[in-house]
Amino acid sequence: MKYPKDYLDEIKARLKVSNVVSKTVSLKKRGKEFVGLSPFKNERTPSFTVNDEKEFYHCFATGEHGNIFDFVMKTQNLRFGETVKYLASIAGMKPYIFSKQDEEREKDWNNYKEIYKNYVEYYHNELLNNNSSSEAKSYIKNRGLKFEDVQNFKIGFVTKEIDYYEFLLKKFDKTDINNSGIFYFDEKKQKHINRFRERIIFPIKNISGDVIAIGGRSIKENNFLAKYINSPETQFFKKGSNLYNLDKSRKLSNKMDFIYLVEGYMDVIGLYKNNIQNVVANLGTALTPRQISILDQFFNNIIICFDGDLSGYKAALRAAENSIIELKPEKKILFLFLPDKYDPDSYVNKFGKEKFQEFSNQNTVEIHKFIFNHYFKEVDDNPSSKAVFEKKLKSVASTIKDEYIKKYVLDYYLEEISKLSPNLHKKSKFMKNLNTRSLKTTQNYYNETKSLTSIEIKEFSFIYILINKPEFIRDNPHLIENVKLFTNENKALFKALIEQSDNFKNFDLSKLSVDKNLIDRVFKYASVKNILNHRSKNEEKIENILNEVIRDLKNYELEIRIQDLEDKFSKDLSEDTFNQLKELKKLQNLN
Ligand code: UTP
Ligand code: MN
Repeated sequence: MKYPKDYLDEIKARLKVSNVVSKTVSLKKRGKEFVGLSPFKNERTPSFTVNDEKEFYHCFATGEHGNIFDFVMKTQNLRFGETVKYLASIAGMKPYIFSKQDEEREKDWNNYKEIYKNYVEYYHNELLNNNSSSEAKSYIKNRGLKFEDVQNFKIGFVTKEIDYYEFLLKKFDKTDINNSGIFYFDEKKQKHINRFRERIIFPIKNISGDVIAIGGRSIKENNFLAKYINSPETQFFKKGSNLYNLDKSRKLSNKMDFIYLVEGYMDVIGLYKNNIQNVVANLGTALTPRQISILDQFFNNIIICFDGDLSGYKAALRAAENSIIELKPEKKILFLFLPDKYDPDSYVNKFGKEKFQEFSNQNTVEIHKFIFNHYFKEVDDNPSSKAVFEKKLKSVASTIKDEYIKKYVLDYYLEEISKLSPNLHKKSKFMKNLNTRSLKTTQNYYNETKSLTSIEIKEFSFIYILINKPEFIRDNPHLIENVKLFTNENKALFKALIEQSDNFKNFDLSKLSVDKNLIDRVFKYASVKNILNHRSKNEEKIENILNEVIRDLKNYELEIRIQDLEDKFSKDLSEDTFNQLKELKKLQNLN
């Protein structure tokens, strides 16, 4: 069985020789080539060279010479079929499945290619030589394109003059012409109509340089006609798997480690003619992960630069969410936002190559940061909006295929999120800066005693009441059930009081097995002492004061549990944790 030529060509186009060779031979760059020790001979000085541009390797010691298929067959002792499978898999392509239709398909492909080639050639000449192209010509001139640019990109103009369908019928089958998608059938006129008539056409090539589709721009500014139209998808043209100008720009990957990805044909041409030739466009559809992974095979960094207007921004966001999936170690996807109203074409034409590059160097944002910044702008200062934000970022990060990148992107997001709520992530949870709601009446006193923590003072107050109002406690023991203290000293004191007091009947503080100083401090700092002493007889008042203190203690406890949960949530971002958190916050508001 024979593999179709386009399949083999695509493998070749996607894999640099040096990439394939360097899996088994260690190579050093020397000028345009790579050199290494020959895999075909034992040697001390390298006589083995690889040339990516010419797509071959050569061994001066043995005379061995060939392309990637030859190399793998010879060095790994594989048969051709196995070699194709192996290389296709490193190229990120599906293994080829042979079928009875293969010959048919190969024939179809050859016709398809030929039809497009003829069409492009014909209308390129029409643009250059036919008088009825004068309007198109001056349009092109006004947009700053020169003869050279028109040639480089084989730009054409579809004049009305001849019925090109009829013309093609002389050389090709009806079915093949129809399958090209260049014409559509008009039911009314019962005629095949040239889709791109009176449009400037941009040939779209596959990675190996064959024309597989057309993009056509109307030269009339009006609202009835779409500004651009493309060939429809066909058996040989899938929009999401191709990029405009990939065939040319991939060859630059030996010299440059990044590529610009722009929206439009004119952006590519604009940058190209300003000597920024490492540029591709994504053909007017949403960017696909496949397009990113194709670029990844050639370039370490992808700079996505869409138009500086709202629709460009939206397209960029969609592109970011679609392509972060493909983020890999040692690869970067960056976004570049041009000033409003500019696209890469208009920017580079106005300011030139240097300014464009300077702007680009200073303004690119990494993909994960762009996504963060975008959603951050949408966050309101309330828990539900923040929760939506966190969930969104987590789900974005979770789509990333590479486990390491996923981990670090998630880390970055959690770190940034924790900065948004600084109060919730202080290290010294127990002792400092806690925003527990303090008793209004004790606020001033608290301010004088900054050396103590607010929670210590509250605990002192609680203990002060126990010590000073034992009869009240004895009559209302339920009030102090479930009260929890936090500082170890006060906890011990509380415990000792209960054990020694015989249900708060007989108190003898001197017999308590606790530090005397502690009791002194309770008396000194308990902020309730003044209010309590003045209203000592009024039981209802005592109860109110006690309840207020206890409520503060409970809130403190809640605060700590909320903190713990927020720490947990920032790590697991689980729905469950979030719901618990919500419940606790509700309780806190009730208190
Ligand atoms: P733009 O409207 O930004 O076009 O669309 P442009 O490249 O700046 O074109 P000029 O400078 O006005 O000639 C960007 C790309 O989106 C696709 C095309 O691929 C275009 O290059 N597009 C746009 C369409 O497919 N259809 C349209 O109607 C418009
Ligand atoms: Mn544009």
